[in-house]
Amino acid sequence: MADPTARQDAPPASDSPDSPDASESPDASDSLDSPDSLDDDASPAAASLAFRELLRGLRVWDTELPSFDPAQAPAEPLPLFRQWLREAAEAGVPEPHTMTLATADAAGAPSVRTLMLHDADERGWHFGTHRGSRKGRELAARPRAALGFYWAAVGRQIRIRGTVTAADPAESAADLHRRSPGALAAALVGHQSEVLGSLEELAHASDAAWERARREPDAPVPSWTLYVLRAEEIEFFQGDARRRHVRLNYRYEGGHWEKELLWP
Ligand SMILES: Cc1cc2nc3c(=O)[nH]c(=O)nc-3n(C[C@H](O)[C@H](O)[C@H](O)COP(=O)(O)O)c2cc1C
Repeated sequence: MADPTARQDAPPASDSPDSPDASESPDASDSLDSPDSLDDDASPAAASLAFRELLRGLRVWDTELPSFDPAQAPAEPLPLFRQWLREAAEAGVPEPHTMTLATADAAGAPSVRTLMLHDADERGWHFGTHRGSRKGRELAARPRAALGFYWAAVGRQIRIRGTVTAADPAESAADLHRRSPGALAAALVGHQSEVLGSLEELAHASDAAWERARREPDAPVPSWTLYVLRAEEIEFFQGDARRRHVRLNYRYEGGHWEKELLWP
């Protein structure tokens, strides 16, 4: 199993394959007068150059990262997922329980957005949203989805794909009412993914929702639905400073989990 206390030595910055090479850098003196080139009033060419330079100056995996020995990984992915999430939280990753959810519409066009993970257990990965939202409609039409987690401080990514089912109204309501007053107020606002006329309209609806959530902590929100993604495939990616990333993929086949390594 991964030992988050076992650290790998990061190579010197000049070893880093992604280090910008000074010889490749464009001569910025003509168009890049100052760091202010990112300002809105810079010429479009200077702004584009400054933006590319900004991107090239940013780093990934440029820190001490935990090691991960896939030979020690458990037979099933759930304990490893829970362990990695806990270790991300302990490493100070902000909001490690947020994840990307990818769905596709009936024509196959994909969409992603960030959601909160409510639980991960033997049934699957739990999240809540409105049935009438874009993702709710897409899941109704095509109940397959993917989740993505990325925890930069530990250089870890997990992706999960599978089939999604909606929990029944009682379980959905219980899940919502266990959450914070803010979560209830947000759900009570409703209309998720519909076109909004103005921010004043939102402020009005939000004030009313907070007031109702305070008065009525069990207020029903019929459209709010708990969904559970039953995983068919889960990949654990441990980033490595020398780009020798470790990828361990679990596939559910014939009633049990198969494990395989993937080239990074
Ligand atoms: C950190 C974070 C957490 C979020 N959590 C949720 C959530 O748990 N449920 C939800 O419906 N939307 C959540 N959202 C909003 C979604 O990202 C998205 O904007 C919304 O659900 C509408 O998506 P859709 O139009 O694709 O259906 C969250 C956004 C952020 C940035």
